Amino acid sequence: MSTPSSEAIAEAEDVFLDQALRPSRFDEYVGQESVKENLRILLTAARERHHPPEHLLFYGPPGLGKTTLAYLVAKEMGVSIKVTAGPVIEKVGDLAAIITNLGNGDILFIDEIHRLHKTVEEVLYPAMESGHLDIILGKGPSARTIQLELPPFTLVAATTRIALLSAPLRSRFGGGTFRLDYYSNEEIEKILLRSAKILGTDINREALREIARRSRATPRTANFLLKRARDFAQVHRRALDREAVMEALKLLGIDELGLSSADRAILRVIIEKFGGGPTGLNTLAAATSEEEATIEEVYEPYLIQLGLLERTPRGRTATVRAYEHIGAQAPKTPQEKLL
Ligand SMILES: Nc1ncnc2c1ncn2[C@@H]1O[C@H](COP(=O)(O)OP(=O)(O)O)[C@@H](O)[C@H]1O
Ligand SMILES: [Mg+2]
Repeated sequence: MSTPSSEAIAEAEDVFLDQALRPSRFDEYVGQESVKENLRILLTAARERHHPPEHLLFYGPPGLGKTTLAYLVAKEMGVSIKVTAGPVIEKVGDLAAIITNLGNGDILFIDEIHRLHKTVEEVLYPAMESGHLDIILGKGPSARTIQLELPPFTLVAATTRIALLSAPLRSRFGGGTFRLDYYSNEEIEKILLRSAKILGTDINREALREIARRSRATPRTANFLLKRARDFAQVHRRALDREAVMEALKLLGIDELGLSSADRAILRVIIEKFGGGPTGLNTLAAATSEEEATIEEVYEPYLIQLGLLERTPRGRTATVRAYEHIGAQAPKTPQEKLL
């Protein structure tokens, strides 16, 4: 039997699920209190001045609610939102087409903005700053630039990799740059409670708590696990209780900490092949057959959050806790070696 790749679980880009369970009002958006409070002030002030809010940047690991926030901002301002993503905008003309179609005050949401092409990024600067687009027509000596005036708009951007954004781009998010954090178990339980209601799933408190505990503190993963556990209980004609959750998650290869087989493979490679590290990212990617970017954006942040992995300038190292979790003998410290 094959278990689904943990990449599939971590990303769980179950579009239907994301949309069906996405909060449509700010008061349904659980947690991230300081981000919400800052946005509330920014949006209220903008509304009172009858002007679109300044550009906003959301960053953090996948599944924490960046896209949801972009939609909520549009909803709150009562404007339309056009959604695109960095890698999709290949040419300056693509950006021009999207941006000139924005209505007055609309939101332009660019997901994965760290993957925006350099040439496109440079055209975006004047659009963000002074509301015009410079478009070069023709080539060579006969080329000329035309300037298009744009209606006021708000760029909302999201990224899992803030460090990859150029300084000039980062400096142009005048409304603020907001980091989304992992959620507490209580917050995840709240989200799951709402999701179970929407899905029409009868689930008891202990079962919810068990899913929350293993959700990587991530709403998208929590919703995904809830759905898988529901399927499991349904197929086995069982109640969706804690035992059913534990069996369903075991089948998915999710352990007590919420780690998937790919998370454990990363720790195992560092510990068993490289003596605990430091191990370079490219070596790790080759040894686990995962993409470097996926390791950095999806797996590592939570392993670091749990204190199982450390990022050092020379590479990744496994902590004593990682040895314990994998069930490996931790190497002796210099002091222990003397005893
Ligand atoms: N704060 C939150 N409260 C309730 N549900 C949330 C919250 N954040 C995310 N979700 C749920 O998780 C799913 C993934 O969120 P999304 O905004 O797509 O994450 P990201 O864009 O950061 O990857 C959403 O569909 C939504 O159901
Ligand atoms: Mg998103």
